[in-house]
Amino acid sequence: MTRSARADRLLAECRLIAEMSEEVERTTRRFLTPPVAAVHEHLRHRMKALGMAVTVDAVGNLRGIWQPEYAGSPRFVLGSHIDTVPNAGAFDGVLGVVMALELVASAQAAALPLALEVIAFSEEEGVRFGVPFLGSRAVAGRFDPQLLALRDLEGVPVETAIRDFGLDPAQIDQASVAHDAVGYLEIHIEQGPVLEAEGLQLGVVTGIVGQTRCELTFSGHANHAGTTPMHLRSDAMTAAAEWILAVENLALESDGAFIATVGKALAKPNASNVIAGSVCLSLDLRSERDDLRDQAVFELLERASAIARRRGLICVGKIQMQQPAVSMDEQMTAYLAESVEASGFPVRRLPSGAGHDAMVMATRLPTAMLFLRSPGGISHHPDESVVAEDLDAALLVAELFLSRIARIQDNKPL
Ligand code: GLV
Ligand code: MN
Ligand code: MN
Repeated sequence: MTRSARADRLLAECRLIAEMSEEVERTTRRFLTPPVAAVHEHLRHRMKALGMAVTVDAVGNLRGIWQPEYAGSPRFVLGSHIDTVPNAGAFDGVLGVVMALELVASAQAAALPLALEVIAFSEEEGVRFGVPFLGSRAVAGRFDPQLLALRDLEGVPVETAIRDFGLDPAQIDQASVAHDAVGYLEIHIEQGPVLEAEGLQLGVVTGIVGQTRCELTFSGHANHAGTTPMHLRSDAMTAAAEWILAVENLALESDGAFIATVGKALAKPNASNVIAGSVCLSLDLRSERDDLRDQAVFELLERASAIARRRGLICVGKIQMQQPAVSMDEQMTAYLAESVEASGFPVRRLPSGAGHDAMVMATRLPTAMLFLRSPGGISHHPDESVVAEDLDAALLVAELFLSRIARIQDNKPL
């Protein structure tokens, strides 16, 4: 298949949005930071040009609704997120949003009797406040008001971040998706190597692994690195190192039943000639099985306490977030798989190891997800990329999928 001009246009749009960043020459766009307003401005313009009604809800999700002229058209929701990890690629999240807008254009051209809501979710990565899915939690009607008290590294609470962005946290309840919505589809890069290894362009997601995120702090005593003998130290750094290796070992021993990552470490005072007084670590643990995930987290928190006890330190751990594994909706996923097949592509079903807004939306709406292969399996990195021909393939499939949904809702045969 030759690449289309529209695939090239969408790729260029993702690259343009990647320049809207908190940092020069790197893409970093955390929840409700100033570049998010620039992305809103860009997407608002795009949505208005498509004749969509545009709003920003109280948690900062940008939402556009296309309502065709046929009265009573059911509403289908499309979307993905516009926040990023630090030093991100250009496609994780944003690709799903710009493709959703392209699908609105095709639905209009085909006069599809389907109202479409496109949501650019404001927060999925959990980078700024440690807890992910703040945007989709609000849309799914599952935003716990206690989340408003979470603070970022500068001590700013979620509530203040929302107000500073010109929004009113008291209105978050109203962000809940409308009752007439019939389903949700998210298009996303795979962020792993499976599709590419099998020579496939597309994948149909069966479910999304559950995840737990924790924060754990070892506290000892900061002291002089030159004068304190090795046996008289309370070194938080060596305790942290021992625990990080324990995390790796337990995950290796599980033989793939779960995976675990310590991706963040903050030492204090963080100076080369001072023994670390404290080290704060993150833990991200994921599994298709919620019971195994809970067991592993429990075991690792126990091991941290044992390491701290043996070394004469204190250890405090807290679970910041637990998101159960979810299955995608069977019927929606069957429609998606049929659309993949009818478009001439092999149907490859696979689970997602990455978290997605779809895992929260699935608690509220029948949800399906379509993956595009990730060259080199690279994601959460500036080298993240996507193949133009795969965008064409995904658009073809999603157009067919939406026309099926419209016919089903209209009580017409497939
Ligand atoms: C989101 O990308 C996640 O899986 O952490
Ligand atoms: Mn991501
Ligand atoms: Mn993502």
